[in-house]
Amino acid sequence: MQKMQFKIVSLILIALFYCIQGNAQNMQKGKKIYETRCLACHQADGGGVPNMNAPLDAASNVVGKDIARLVRIIRYGYNERVALDGFYYSNAMTASPDLKDNEIADLLTYIRNSWSNKASAVTIAQVQAAKKKK
Ligand code: HEC
Repeated sequence: MQKMQFKIVSLILIALFYCIQGNAQNMQKGKKIYETRCLACHQADGGGVPNMNAPLDAASNVVGKDIARLVRIIRYGYNERVALDGFYYSNAMTASPDLKDNEIADLLTYIRNSWSNKASAVTIAQVQAAKKKK
């Protein structure tokens, strides 16, 4: 009986390990993309540049529920006179139309879970759903 319990606990631990590792891998890939494409404007700490580039850290939209909007911003770029958490930003965000669905999912998972941000991971299915609306 005890052997059986040990086996079950071991299996659960192994499954857990793979789950955590899977997430970590997405975060790592997302971080790489962030560093090559986004860091110059949004900065290493996600704080952006006042009045120029919007912060991603502690930004309500970034950790919010509208994933489709975030996907569109990355794919098509963003330049609208709309206040983001009360501030306006003069720069225009460049588009990344060449990023693949899984890369956008990793990237969004990364920015939603870095610095002080803590939000759900973004799946490839969510990225694909955003594409259909456009
Ligand atoms: C050329 C500078 C620049 C680059 C590069 C850039 N951004 Fe942006 N980003 C901006 C600016 C400026 C805004 C705000 C635009 C506006 O208000 O019209 C913005 C807005 C955003 C927003 C919306 C924030 C909110 O509060 O709604 C997200 C999300 C975002 N950027 C993510 C990214 C990601 C991810 C990358 C890398 C693929 C990236 N940006 C690359 C300048 C940039």
